[in-house]
Amino acid sequence: MPMPPTPSPAWHPLCHRDELAHGESREFALPGGDTRSLFAVRQHQQVYVYLNSCPHTGASLNWGADEFLSFDRSLIQCSLHGAQFRIDDGLCIWGPCLRQRLTALPVRLGDEQVEVDLSPLPARLRRPR
Ligand code: FES
Repeated sequence: MPMPPTPSPAWHPLCHRDELAHGESREFALPGGDTRSLFAVRQHQQVYVYLNSCPHTGASLNWGADEFLSFDRSLIQCSLHGAQFRIDDGLCIWGPCLRQRLTALPVRLGDEQVEVDLSPLPARLRRPR
């Protein structure tokens, strides 16, 4: 049985790398009129980007504007029922979606820009160009 084709990367500029400091999280709109959003978390020189959708119900995760992290800022925490996810791989370690993962998107850091590859997004969330 032939393997399905791997989608080509669809690199999209997210922000200037100085706009996101260590320990911060931030929400970003998706291009193309998609009503869903992404969020990024920076830890030291690494940036992690996920779809803003809890595996439990599909609800947005954030508590408020750009607030995705637990009180001690060591985990991503869903505002609805409190599920907690590791920042570095999006694995749920506590809550109703235990052992499920956030939808992670590949990130590359240029000299100035943070870019995210939108090609892994579930097709239903992308609109045709
Ligand atoms: S919607 Fe996130 S824990 Fe229930």
